[in-house]
Amino acid sequence: MRFVPFELERWQSTWENRVRFNLAESGVHPLSVQELLGLAGASAVPLLEVRLGYSQSNGTDLLRQRIAALYPGASPDHVLVTTGSAEANFVACWRLLEPGDKVAMLLPSYLQIWGQAQNLGAQVRGFDLHAGNGWEPFPEEIRAAIAPGTKLVVVTNPHNPTGHVLSDDARRVILERSREVGAWLLADEVYAGAELNGKTTPSFWGSYDKVICVSGLSKAYGLPGLRIGWLVAPPEFTAESWARHDYTTIGPAGASDHLAGVALAPGVREKIIERTRRILNANYPVFEQWLKRFGDTFSWHPPQAGAICLVKYRQGVGALDVVERIRAQHSVLLVPGEHFGVPQHIRFGYGNELSELQAALAETELGLKRIFTD
Ligand SMILES: Cc1ncc(COP(=O)(O)O)c(C=O)c1O
Repeated sequence: MRFVPFELERWQSTWENRVRFNLAESGVHPLSVQELLGLAGASAVPLLEVRLGYSQSNGTDLLRQRIAALYPGASPDHVLVTTGSAEANFVACWRLLEPGDKVAMLLPSYLQIWGQAQNLGAQVRGFDLHAGNGWEPFPEEIRAAIAPGTKLVVVTNPHNPTGHVLSDDARRVILERSREVGAWLLADEVYAGAELNGKTTPSFWGSYDKVICVSGLSKAYGLPGLRIGWLVAPPEFTAESWARHDYTTIGPAGASDHLAGVALAPGVREKIIERTRRILNANYPVFEQWLKRFGDTFSWHPPQAGAICLVKYRQGVGALDVVERIRAQHSVLLVPGEHFGVPQHIRFGYGNELSELQAALAETELGLKRIFTD
């Protein structure tokens, strides 16, 4: 079987710490440990006292309780703590997919499950989000993609790379059709909480008995370096995913588990989300003004969530080529649309510190003007 690489993560892993400006990030400027503790009004002593042994491998009881509290009706037995939401997606797919299985998912998308499902021998079929329809999918295309016999349906909501939040109608059609064909529904909700309008996207949790909700602290909480994610699913599914996790990372780092518990403490969580939304709302207008300076070169829908904006450009040059030239000549990292399955687009991250964002955009402008007039 041919290995399908995860091109987006290869691109980011290779360059994100080697460029001067990183506009490839989809979360906001991360908190430091000190800032997190300051925001929580917590002492550093319990962190310093964390013993560096193996921590509880499915997540400490306290952390699983705090995560379960976010999902009505869930108990700690529904929760598996993972090393990032990426690992939650991975173990869920591993638990479910066998060669020949059918998977349906939104396109464009963060292509982790797209590639992973194929690496497990499954066949993946996309249903499009249409730019001309405000990044909404068409109901008949959802139904066609979720064909009878589909084992797994995958949605990312809020969505990466568009920042779109699915309408109630689209959610309903996806749920109804998943139920009709008996498919599992994996909802990657890692951007929930990072909505610009302050309205938290409703979770798919509780809407169907075969739902797996995946989330984590990397995006809405600005804590990707903790590498804490989770899945919430029926306890049997969670236990079977935990058995896969024994083969991947064994367990989360204890210091990260502790700090995740601090971040998810009642009252603290809300402050972190508020910080994220403040950054998004301060930065997006600056970014949008910058886009407008290019006249009719770009078209886009303002994102509803996440520090990301998917932008289409008019010129015929490929996005892989554009971003490589901007990286090599200007040391700014962007993401080409090809990495999400949508050519002639660039995904910009705008969650950096404002002064850094402005400097990065000025540098990018120099490069783009040259590339687009060549
Ligand atoms: C939709 C989606 N899911 C999962 C991840 C993985 O994030 P992490 O493992 O840091 O939680 C990302 C990261 O960009 C993402 O965009």
